[in-house]
This record gives sequence, C-alpha cells and structure tokens, in this order.
Amino acid sequence: MNLPQELEKDLVHQYGVNAFRLYRLPYLEEGSVIGVIGKNGIGKTTAIQVLAGQLKPNLGNLEGQPNLEEVARYFRGSLLQEYLTELADGSLKISYKPQYIDKIPKVVKGKVGEILARIAAPGKLEKIVELFELGHLMDREVEVLSGGELQRLALAACLARDANTFLIDEPSSFLDIRQRFRAASAIRSILGDGVRVMVCDHDLAVLDYLSDKIFVFYGRPGVYGVVSGPFGVREGINIFLQGYIPSENVRFRSEKITFQVRPPSVAEEQEGGAPLEWPEMTKSYEGFKLEVKTGRAWQGDVIGIVGPNGIGKTTFIKLLAGVERSDEGYELEFKSMSYKPQYPEPRDSLVEEVLREAAGKKFDSDLYRGELIEPLGLERLMDRNMAELSGGELQKVSIAEALSRDAELYLLDEPSAYLDVEERYMTTKVIKRVTRDRKAYTFLVDHDLMVLDFASTKLMVFSGEPGRHGVANPPVSLR
Ligand SMILES: Nc1ncnc2c1ncn2[C@@H]1O[C@H](COP(=O)(O)OP(=O)(O)OP(=O)(O)O)[C@@H](O)[C@H]1O
Ligand SMILES: [Mg+2]
Repeated sequence: MNLPQELEKDLVHQYGVNAFRLYRLPYLEEGSVIGVIGKNGIGKTTAIQVLAGQLKPNLGNLEGQPNLEEVARYFRGSLLQEYLTELADGSLKISYKPQYIDKIPKVVKGKVGEILARIAAPGKLEKIVELFELGHLMDREVEVLSGGELQRLALAACLARDANTFLIDEPSSFLDIRQRFRAASAIRSILGDGVRVMVCDHDLAVLDYLSDKIFVFYGRPGVYGVVSGPFGVREGINIFLQGYIPSENVRFRSEKITFQVRPPSVAEEQEGGAPLEWPEMTKSYEGFKLEVKTGRAWQGDVIGIVGPNGIGKTTFIKLLAGVERSDEGYELEFKSMSYKPQYPEPRDSLVEEVLREAAGKKFDSDLYRGELIEPLGLERLMDRNMAELSGGELQKVSIAEALSRDAELYLLDEPSAYLDVEERYMTTKVIKRVTRDRKAYTFLVDHDLMVLDFASTKLMVFSGEPGRHGVANPPVSLR
C-alpha cells in the first residue's frame, strides 16, 4: 500500500530518521468512551502517550524542541486543538493505564489494599474494589497476583484516581471473558460531566460494548500509521474487518478478516504412542489451593486450558514445568519440555541470536523458516534487541523461541496476550501444526475463545472459586 501524498501534511510525530511516523491523532470527547482499533505496531500506544502528555509530538521536525501550544495551533478549529490546549495548560487531570501491566510488580510493591488506598480519590475506593472483585485480594502481595488479578488492580487504580481524562491501553489482556465485560461496564460507569475516556483494545466484542465512537488505525507496522475517524461503533469495527475505508477510498488490507468456526477437522485420533499422565496432586499457597485431578494427554494433543482468572491455570502449568513443586513433592518425569511463561522475560540479545540458540542447526533450513519465521512475521525483527521489543513483538518472539526447541512437551501460557487479531490467528495455526508434526503434547492456556477453539484437540476446564480454590479437571475431548 502506498502512502497517499496528501497525508504528508498530517504528520504528527516521527521517532527518528527512517523511524516510525504517525499521521493524525484520535481525540477524546466529554461524556463519551472513544474506542481505538488497529493492528500491532501501528501507533496506537504512541497516540495514547501523546494524548497523555507523556510524549511530545514533533510534527516531523527532528531537531526542533516540541512545544504543545504550537502543536495545538496546528490542529486549529478542531476538538483536538481544544484538548491539546487544555493538556498544555495543565487543566486536564489524566489517569493512564499502560498496556504492559506485567511491568507493574517491578516498580510497585506491597499489598493490593495498600496500593489502592495510596492512589484512590476519597470516597472512590470501596466502589472500585467491588466493581473489580478485589475484596478477597486486598491482603495479597502484588507480585503473586495472577495475570487477570493484576490487570484488575491496574484498571482499578486507573479508575480510582481523581481525574477527568482516562486513557486506557488494552484493558482486556489477561482478563477472562466475564471480567472483560465487568471491566467494560466499570469503565462506562465513570462517565459523567466533563469526563473523557479513550480505550484501545484488540477484543472487538469489548470495544463494541464499551465505545460510543471508534477511530481506526491503519498503515504498515513499524513504518507508519494513519488515524481515521471517528466512526460510529459498528461502522468502525466493520471498516477494520473489511480493510477498507469508504469515506477515504483507502484499502489497507487485501483480505477481509473472517472468523471461521473450527477448521475442517483432521484425523487427530492417533491415540498411538505413549500417553502423558499426571497424578492427582495439590498445590497450596497462603490463601489459595489448587486441586489437580489425574489426567492424560496423547501425542499430537493440544490441550486447551480455560477457566476464570485466579483459578490456578498458571499454577498447573508451573507444576508441569517443574517450576513449582506440588504439596506432595511429586516430580513429573518428562524427557524434554519447553515453556513460555505468562509474562515472557526479554533478554539483552538480538532476536536472531535467541532463536538460533533455541533452534540449533535447523535455524538455517527452509523448513524452519516456513514453519515459524514467516508465519509469525519475525524476519523484520531479527536484528532487533529482544529487550527493546513491544509487548506484542516480545510475545511472538517468545512463542517462536519456545516452539523452536525440540521438546516432547510444550507449555504455552497465554500466547495471545498483546497480539492483534491477525497475529492470534497465525500463531494458533503454528501451534497446532508444530504439535501435530512433532507428535508433541501441548498445553495452551488462553482466554480467547477463537484461539482455543481453533487450536485445541481437548479442553481442560478449571472450576472452583477464583483467588481461593481451584480444581484442574481432566481433559475432555471436543468431539
Ligand atoms: N506465591 C503465591 N502466593 C500466594 N498466592 C499465590 C501465589 N501464586 C499465585 N497465587 C494466587 O493463586 C491464585 C491462582 O493463580 P494462577 O496464576 O495460577 O491463576 P490463573 O488461573 O493463571 O489466572 P489468570 O487467568 O488471571 O492468569 C491467584 O489467586 C493468585 O493470586
Ligand atoms: Mg495465568
């Protein structure tokens, strides 16, 4: 796709020579929730950071000192000018929920209750704790929270602040489905006079439910992004799915995104080889206990793991991985295992080095390229440092690293977090194929039903009482 010539005048920010450029900005409106959609690497977080006052836009002038008043004047006569003027004179009270919540425990210490008490505006705490179902977690240390519990804490902290402008970057990552909709209605509940909200998310159902208007971002990931809108909610979502903006006559994707239900089922009943079995076991923490029922998996199985937040899914994966010991001290005997944790840890190395080390000799083969590098779009990341990747990029590299190792058992904890719709689809295909071709056993924890439905041969449903007591039920066949 070529960049329309007339866009050049709309350049808002450029990170450096030949670096990413953002054209136009979305804007907030009083009394509404503005939704933002677009694939990864297309400038959504950049735009939110500009609107949060954390990044000063340079209008493409790489030498000059950016000046917000000047930028505001540039958007003369628009709602954006009004917003940026208020931002410049400090009259907005902004509360920002960053995209990457897994960094929170590194900088914020203490118990959930203490953290919220420090942040919350007078009188807001009680209601927020209830909205996000945090009551039973008030005495829990932030570093032991499950992914969904941590996201709820981050959202609660954002909404509890004394602010009138809320910028919320990816609220639904790590949340289970019920919590996604609870969070969406909690966000809507803060609307009122003078309150503005902007939310960006990859879950289209959440955006549909949450937003009053939608901006669509398109462009080339890592190269440039263009903001288009605002559109009505259904119209905006439709434009994103179709890859075409009628009002601008721009086609930004050659194919439509269609959600297909389960692909034609392949013969997976190869119940040959040796099953992988695990015994009944328990794992107790202070305030939480997981009970695992005995179960088994067969070669080629992708066992999808579903259940609410804080029910012990990650704990179960850690038991299989040997990262945690069960109360009985049981040690599982697997010959080889490859594990992608819920929060991947970047290392200070080039992506190519990381993948080469994991893949070994096969790294240079066409088979490996076709199996992992191409479908996950990793070619353009090879000479980047792993520590400098975005959350979605890091996720893809970590999935590729885990699947590059030759193993009998693959453990993938929430691979779809931070990925966009297209990336989720490709990743799911890769996981399924690698498992089948290598006759491996794969365990896949995820909250995205499309991912689970598309990848899994069996499902393990976790039940119990979130944050207190979980039960890992045996896998059941989907057919
Ligand atoms: N070391 C620990 N000490 C105390 N509690 C813990 C510890 N580790 C985990 N927990 C608690 O155990 C429960 C289960 O956590 P786990 O991470 O297994 O949940 P999960 O099902 O993976 O949830 P999510 O979908 O949110 O990732 C949570 O309530 C969590 O707060
Ligand atoms: Mg988890």
